[in-house]
Parts: sequence; structure tokens; C-alpha cells
Amino acid sequence: MKIDVIRKLPEHLDTLILMQEESGTIQSVEYVPAELLSPIETFMKSEEFSFSYANLKSFSMIVAKRRLNIILLGVGDKEALTPNKLRNLFASAIRTAAKMNARQIYLFPGFTSTVNDVAFGHVLAESALLVAYRFDKYLNSDKNKLFPESLHYVLNTKNTRHLNRGILEGRIYADATNLARDMVNEPANVMTPDALAEAAKRAALQYGFTIETHSQDKLRRIKMDAFLAVGRGSVREPKLIIMRFNGNPDKRQECIALVGKGLTYDSGGYCIKTPQGMVNMKNDMGGAAAVIGAMCAISSMKLKVNVVAIVAACENMISGDAYRTGDIITSMAGKTIEVINTDAEGRLTLCDAIHYAIEKEHADRIVDIATLTGAAVAALGNQFSAVVTNNDAWLEQLKTAASFTGENIWQLPAHDEYKELLKSDIADLKNVGGPMGGAITAGLFLREFVQDKPWLHIDIAGTALKDKESGINPYGATGVGVRMLTSLLKGME
Ligand code: BES
Ligand code: MN
Ligand code: ZN
Repeated sequence: MKIDVIRKLPEHLDTLILMQEESGTIQSVEYVPAELLSPIETFMKSEEFSFSYANLKSFSMIVAKRRLNIILLGVGDKEALTPNKLRNLFASAIRTAAKMNARQIYLFPGFTSTVNDVAFGHVLAESALLVAYRFDKYLNSDKNKLFPESLHYVLNTKNTRHLNRGILEGRIYADATNLARDMVNEPANVMTPDALAEAAKRAALQYGFTIETHSQDKLRRIKMDAFLAVGRGSVREPKLIIMRFNGNPDKRQECIALVGKGLTYDSGGYCIKTPQGMVNMKNDMGGAAAVIGAMCAISSMKLKVNVVAIVAACENMISGDAYRTGDIITSMAGKTIEVINTDAEGRLTLCDAIHYAIEKEHADRIVDIATLTGAAVAALGNQFSAVVTNNDAWLEQLKTAASFTGENIWQLPAHDEYKELLKSDIADLKNVGGPMGGAITAGLFLREFVQDKPWLHIDIAGTALKDKESGINPYGATGVGVRMLTSLLKGME
């Protein structure tokens, strides 16, 4: 989709979005063709339309034998706008336009925002590209459905430098998110551990970060036995994917590790899930997709940070050789783990991946992101991702990033007393802490492997997938985490 800022309108308009603050008037919106003012006002009167926040109405009319779509959208009090509110406003208008089969969208802003031009351009482009995303490659019908070709922001200014910089940045964020969505939406029969590694390689080539993968033999040699135990039930071999971006080579003072859970499918193993619990488990690599997407965006923007991303990709399946409950496995870090539940597999792959990041890649800080627990969904529903940390100062930075990108996060208490729940009589740790506080104990399990490094754990079990479209998100994968991680690292340049 082409996105630009224009001052000259073509002769024929296809779709018009009019955004207006509640106290303003249509007449004051620049460039709106004079002959449209009276039909718009008539429509507003008949509908008793007011430009209160997020109020939206649309209609079509014939002008010079062509159909013209008009979308009215209330901004409410422009002083109360934030980048995220703007993003949601744009999203609802552009989604409406797409549903009206708009090809060229002209957006008329009847307000001047207190959001700065870079952020404004960013959320404009980002929302348009995120809303226009579809995963339709397996649909034989509906294939030729038209989608918007262009979005023109109609503005009377010569100084579009900051807006355009924001548009560029928003496009990078959205493209990376859509790449992650694609990976998650692919079914598990296609997106195997191998295929995930290949997809990451293609992304590395395209965006300019380096990548290395380790196969089973190598993983055995370096004793990633917790990771290997989870993958053992599948005929598809596990793959460790290591991606690096050194944006600050002369100051190699700090390397930040992004560790993403990469279960391409989670049947639960011998502690098998119910059919209902299993149906969406192709999305159990949503954390992996988030870190791969973030690597793309980070390299695109050439951020001055050193980042390594680690994905331990495998499938949790059942077979004669799958791991069992009661098994005691020795993690790469040397800590022994009693397997109480084979469905608590994510933390077993992550604890080795985290240890790998520290030992082999010399990571100084760690963020892990994972569709880790149903308990996080029970606690926060599908609007907030749960966060556990050992470093509140760093969490503040994540909060700033997440509030800009509109990806809601909420901290869970990681009080030491909860650790009792992970005590085993015969090993260093149990892999589950029982029915209470499951999202917390999962986090505390991982904390055992981060040593003294600042660490953020983001549980996206509730937020990685939508069962119906809303805001910037379509049905299916949201790509949650890509923009939040990118923005976090941008703030750490
Ligand atoms: N991948 C699941 C968590 C999940 C649940 C993600 C729902 C998305 C939606 C994870 O591997 C899992 O099965 N967790 C168990 C842990 C339990 C056995 C301690 C869970 O949450 O039930
Ligand atoms: Mn599981
Ligand atoms: Zn899982």
C-alpha cells in the first residue's frame, strides 16, 4: 500500500475519511471539495452525528457517475489524543474503508494533534498496513478481493519531513509484525521447526542480520537436554536458531538477548491436551515469531544496539520415545528438573535457550517472550500480556515502549515465596508449580536460569491470537511483541 502526504487532490475521489474534533466544523477542514459539504452536513443532521471520540459513520453517494465513499470519524477532544488512541482511530476508519472496497483513500484531518509528527506518521502508516493484512493464501474463494492501494494524507504543509520519517518507521514496524503474523498463521504441518529456521534465514537475508542454526547432533554435544527432551517425541528434529545484529560494534559493552518460545506445535505430549485446548497450538511459536520480527525491524532501522535472538524450535508430540512424566532431565545449565507435566514444555525449551544466550552469546540482558501459560490467560484475558521481571527499572522502559505501541502489559508479582511451589524432593526443580499462580511460577522457573542478568519475561499466551478482528488486529495471529520489543530496543540505543 502506498502511503503519502499530498496537497493536491485528483479530479475523482474514491474514498474520503474525514476526521474531526468534536468542537470543530466540517467547513474548517481544508481541501474538502465544496460540493461535498452540503451532502455531508445533511447526512450528519439526519444521523444526529457528532464527532465524539471514535464515533464513526459511513455512507456512499454518486458523484459524476462514480461512487464516492465517505467516512466520518470523531476525534473527540484532540488534547486527549495519544499515539495509541490515534492508531485505533485510524484503524477503525481504514477497516471501514476496506470493507467498502476502497482503493484510494484520502484522509482529511480536521484537527491538529498534539502528538508529534514522527509519531503521527508512524501510527498512520502502521495502522493502515496492520489493518490491511490478510492471511488468505489457502483460500480458493475470495482470492481476488480488492484491498486499498493507497492512503493519501491530505495536508496543507510543505514541511513533511518528520511525517514522512514517521511513515517510514511505521511501515517498518508493520511489515515486521505482518511477517510474524504470517509465520504464526501458517499451520503446523507447514511451519515445522525446519521451516521456521528457513523462514528466519530468508528474513535474515532480506533484512541484513546474521543467522546460524544448530541441528540435533550439535545440540546433544552442547547438552541442551531440556530442550531436546521436549522435541524428542516428534519425527521433526529440533532446531536452535541464533540470530545476531551488531548495531553498535565499537561499543560492544552490552548484548541484549531476545529469547522466543518456538513450539511449532504443542499437543501437550503424554499429558495430552483436550481437542479444544489443542486447536490453536500452532501459535505456540508466537514468541519466536515476535523475536524474528523484531530482528527484522531492528536491522531495518539499523538501531545502535547489539542484539542476539535465540529460538529453540521444536514440536511437543507423542511417540514411543517422547519424554514422560517423572523423567528427570539435566538442563544445559546443570540444574536438574523433575517433569511433572509434559505440557509445561515451553519453560524447558526456554531455560536452555536462556542459558545458551548467557554462556555462548555472552548476553548481558535477557528478554524472553512466550505463549507460556493458560494461567496468564486466566489472569489477564486476551487484552494484556503478563510480565515477570527481576529488574523494575528495565520494566519501566518496557512499559514506555508498550504504551507507545499499544501492546498492553501487566506485571505479576514474583515474590520469592512462590518459589516454594517449584521445589522437588528428588531434583533441583519441578517443571510445574501446581494449579495456583501458574503464570508466576512459570516465570520464576525461568528466573532460575538468568543468573544475575536483568531479565524481562513476557507471557503472550492470551494476546498472540484473536478469534475475531478488532482494532489493528485481524482474525488470527496478532504479531504481538514485535513492535514492543523493537520500541524497547529503540529506547536503549
Ligand atoms: N502453550 C501452552 C500455553 C498456552 C495456553 C498458550 C493457552 C496459549 C493458549 C503451554 O505449553 C502449556 O500447555 N501450559 C500449561 C502449563 C501447565 C501444564 C502447568 C497450561 O497453561 O495449562
Ligand atoms: Mn504445553
Ligand atoms: Zn506450549
